[in-house]
Amino acid sequence: MKVILASDHGGINLSKEIASLLEELQVEYEDIGCNCADSVDYPDYGIPAAERVANGEFDRGILICGTGIGMSIAANKVKGIRAALVHDLFSAKATREHNDSNMITMGERVIGPGLAREIVRTWLGTEFEGGRHQNRIGKVADYENK
Ligand code: RB5
Repeated sequence: MKVILASDHGGINLSKEIASLLEELQVEYEDIGCNCADSVDYPDYGIPAAERVANGEFDRGILICGTGIGMSIAANKVKGIRAALVHDLFSAKATREHNDSNMITMGERVIGPGLAREIVRTWLGTEFEGGRHQNRIGKVADYENK
């Protein structure tokens, strides 16, 4: 599995934590930044990351900003992206089983590194259930492709 990781300045510390987790898990990943202390705009990182998941270059993406909200809004504008804003373990599992989410977004100002690491472990390790859920995400895709 190939994962792309991106953050804005508000997510930089948590992003480094997740990068070290991906190394521990021996998951292939690319960190596209920002590696910055200065203020940047989350769409400048979230949208390019989402495009690289949508075009198949990466299987999954992890986006981090202050709240996770801006990254989620931006990523979900890219066709084919199902980005879930996740701050708890139940949702991390459910969004893979039910939504086949291909990106998650988290907020560094919302949760701590320990929970964020467990969320990523759970999300990476949970399979999509398909079935009725496939039908539902298919309806979203149909709307997106209209
Ligand atoms: C940056 O201050 C902050 O707005 C950003 O990281 C994010 O939380 C936006 O949704």
